Amino acid sequence: METIDINKKSKQRQKTLDPMKLEVQEQYMDKVRKINEKWAAEKGRKPVVVIVTFGCQMNEHDSEELDYMLERMGYDKTEDVNEADLVIYNTCAVRENAEKKVYGNLGQLKFRKRSHPDLKIAICGCMIQQPHVVEEIKKHHKHVNLLFGTHNLYRFPELLHKQITTDEMVVEVWDVDGEVIEGLHSNRKFNLKAFVNIMYGCNNFCTYCIVPYTRGRERSREPQDIIDEIKELVSRGTKEVTLLGQNVNSYGKTLDNPVTFAELLRMVNEIEGLERVRFMTSHPKDISDEVIYAIRDCDKLCEFLHLPVQCGSTSLLKKMNRHYSKEDYLKIIEKAKKEVPDMAFSTDIMIGFPGETMEDVQDTIDVIEAVRYDSAFTFIYSKREGTPAAKMENQIPEEEKHRRFDMVLEHVNRISGEISEEYRDKVVEVLVEGKSAKDSNRYTGKTRQNKTVNFDSDEDFTGQLVMVKITDPKSFSLNGEIVR
Ligand code: 5AD
Ligand code: SF4
Repeated sequence: METIDINKKSKQRQKTLDPMKLEVQEQYMDKVRKINEKWAAEKGRKPVVVIVTFGCQMNEHDSEELDYMLERMGYDKTEDVNEADLVIYNTCAVRENAEKKVYGNLGQLKFRKRSHPDLKIAICGCMIQQPHVVEEIKKHHKHVNLLFGTHNLYRFPELLHKQITTDEMVVEVWDVDGEVIEGLHSNRKFNLKAFVNIMYGCNNFCTYCIVPYTRGRERSREPQDIIDEIKELVSRGTKEVTLLGQNVNSYGKTLDNPVTFAELLRMVNEIEGLERVRFMTSHPKDISDEVIYAIRDCDKLCEFLHLPVQCGSTSLLKKMNRHYSKEDYLKIIEKAKKEVPDMAFSTDIMIGFPGETMEDVQDTIDVIEAVRYDSAFTFIYSKREGTPAAKMENQIPEEEKHRRFDMVLEHVNRISGEISEEYRDKVVEVLVEGKSAKDSNRYTGKTRQNKTVNFDSDEDFTGQLVMVKITDPKSFSLNGEIVR
């Protein structure tokens, strides 16, 4: 078994496009492509790859970059793991369930590898940034061929080449976040809407969260690089961008010439041809009034704010290391509602954090009732090895966590339904994303508030903004008629 370099240090510094790194990447993509051409000539078909992506939009975006590299290296794509010659798992470590799924899938692939010894398995993403996971895979899943982390994604072609030419297990994980590598290409899944990373990593160390350990410290991209990327996307037909970061409100602090997130939003709003701008995720402790004013003033900024509360109890928030109280949070919402009356809110809620009492749960329900979220992602607390909360006393039993979760979800769903009902007979602007099902004249799109709208049309308005009158609101989507 070969280990190229585990826990290799890389200096933490800002950097834009590095021609050397990209050149090396190009060279290895060529080398693998030549190997694959030979393989294809022998087998009469190209090798087939599947990327299975778990977790957040950051991972989705990383998978798009892998997708580009794989296409350049001569792979055909499939959605079916059982058809693939190369299976890549881009993993998530935020909750235990996603990790369990990966281990389950690895077990199944072990059987497949017996009848298909050529099958290659690669695992990347946040799980691999945890040393105990790498040890576990090296020890108990020896049929895996390649492991790499989140900071060295751009080195994938070189690592894959090494694996193919040595046929040994290749492992490369960097424990310190590196530079921001600019100029990497990606195969966007859906051109109309695109995710754009504006920063990487997180400095917050919420006590339950593994992300600061797997994605490293906060690094912001230069505003000009972000603007250039969005302009390029718009020139290829993109109408909506979502600016991505673990904590977008602290964007720009680490730059040589610091820029605030509100300033960046105003710059992005100036891009001609772009229709809509969204962003996530905002941390309540860092959101400034200027961000709310930017949403109020900028025509392209959608009236939608994803502001994770996690829980409504001030004492539990303190144990979570969140740096705001229930009252602070509600004040931000009040301000946002005042400045942007048609703002829709969404949030992340965590149930069952260690020591959570029924009073804490009631505080969370109070916040849900006061804010009235359009939608909320509700999570059951999952113990993550290496985080401070994993060692806290009074872990809540699984069954009790589920009981509380159901209680909270009832409020979330009721309010979602009520908000949908308020749309009845209203006319809303919809960015049409395409047909909701093949061979039908049913189309689907999103409002500025991120509500899904379905409507029938004989004409294809995909990529355009249309006006739709809502006739039949459902809890999680709105049905209507096009009025143009
Ligand atoms: N258990 C459950 N949910 C978690 N999240 C982060 N860490 C954990 C954990 N250990 C949730 C938070 C965060 C979202 C992306 O995932 O709510 O906002
Ligand atoms: Fe995790 Fe907190 Fe950072 Fe969000 S802000 S990624 S929850 S540590």
